Amino acid sequence: MTLHAADPWRPAFHIAPRRGLLNDPNGLVHWDGAFHIFYQWNPTGCTHANKNWAHLRSPDLIHWEELPIALAPVDSFDSHGCYSGSAVVDGKTLVLVYNGNVRDAGGERQTYQCLATSSDGISFEKLGPVISGPLPGYTAHFRDPKVWRAADGSWRMVIGAQTTELEGTVLLLRGTDLTRWTLDRQLLAPGAFGYMCECPDFFRIDDTAILIFCEQSTVDGRDSNLAGYVRADLGATARRDAFHRLDHGRDFYAPQTFTAPDGRRLMLAWMGLPEQDEAPSIAHGWMHCLTLPRELQVKGGRLCQQPARELATLRKAHTALGGLTVEGLHVLPLRAAAFELAVAWNEEPSTPGGAPQAAFTLDLRAGDTERTSLRIDPAARRLALETVQPDGATVPLGDATVPDGWPFGTVRIFVDRSSVEVFAADGAVTFSARIFPSPGADALRVRADDTVTFTQLDVWTL
Ligand code: FRU
Repeated sequence: MTLHAADPWRPAFHIAPRRGLLNDPNGLVHWDGAFHIFYQWNPTGCTHANKNWAHLRSPDLIHWEELPIALAPVDSFDSHGCYSGSAVVDGKTLVLVYNGNVRDAGGERQTYQCLATSSDGISFEKLGPVISGPLPGYTAHFRDPKVWRAADGSWRMVIGAQTTELEGTVLLLRGTDLTRWTLDRQLLAPGAFGYMCECPDFFRIDDTAILIFCEQSTVDGRDSNLAGYVRADLGATARRDAFHRLDHGRDFYAPQTFTAPDGRRLMLAWMGLPEQDEAPSIAHGWMHCLTLPRELQVKGGRLCQQPARELATLRKAHTALGGLTVEGLHVLPLRAAAFELAVAWNEEPSTPGGAPQAAFTLDLRAGDTERTSLRIDPAARRLALETVQPDGATVPLGDATVPDGWPFGTVRIFVDRSSVEVFAADGAVTFSARIFPSPGADALRVRADDTVTFTQLDVWTL
């Protein structure tokens, strides 16, 4: 039996679990000539339990080979989950630094930061905890170590934490080696960020220091999980007003970054959220996927994301419709469930001081009674993504305003059977969302409020 033969939602080019539940990307690293991606994986069911580290390897960020599970939750220090963490290279050794999650006999959470090493990049030997329990002043919500080597050869770690006042924060630790860690400082202003901050990451692009983390809070009595960043060096204490969302789609969480051999800073995230426990793909035995690998740059003080350039090698049939003028509804001459779409228009008004281009809607994965639509309103500088389901229900998938002074540029859209990712304004505005269209809902349409001329309209099947 081909396990996924009749599965309309299995991605063609995104990382998704063969079965069970995927969440955070972990241990992203380029080592010994290959990219390695690990992720949080429950191989036995579509629930948040039994977290292993799944392991994939690739020569090119496109073709992924599944390797044996790297870490399984079978030891006293990680019995209730080999939770998230990172990878570093120490000499000839690949080292995983991860959170061992444990529930004691009374059901109380215990936390350990643990090491595992490998000399072949395939089998890992657990060395056990190097930080046992939370540091004084913090609760057991103390996890997701992200480690890097400082210029002087010593180590740094950022880790998600909750103070005993139940305030979320990120801590900076220093290590003379990977086994001895001391607290340097708290990187977020006390009380500024929700009740927990998970999955931190810190890096520099050019001279800009970026601290990423995921804020958990309660907004209007509901759980809120928000992945964002502050521009703040390690000597600073970040405040709430410095926090920017990383992505405006519904499904984006727990991003992690690493450097490629050519120096690019790459990022992948989980295309899901902690509180989601239903998805139509569960009927096919799996749930969630990762985002595309994205290249990060800082432009005008903003962290910008573009799909990794390697993704261009996925392009198959090309339909070039640049110059097309659309009035009302236009159905594009192709059908596809997995494709890349690149759209641009003349952003200057046709007469000085005249009105900008009319608003239009791109219907992606359209069927008779359903569609996922990206509405682009140049005058309002807005983008909005939504799905209209066969029962007529509209599900908002995210909206955003393009910052003043930023052209929309070429808007790039990647659709992969059960996901949509949008990159606009040079990557300053992105959306990531999961969709579950009916099989056969694979038309592509443009609906213009008035007359719209596209300077670029390219579609590649992928
Ligand atoms: C974020 C997270 C991490 C934790 C992991 C467990 O999604 O809750 O904080 O390490 O998932 O799977």
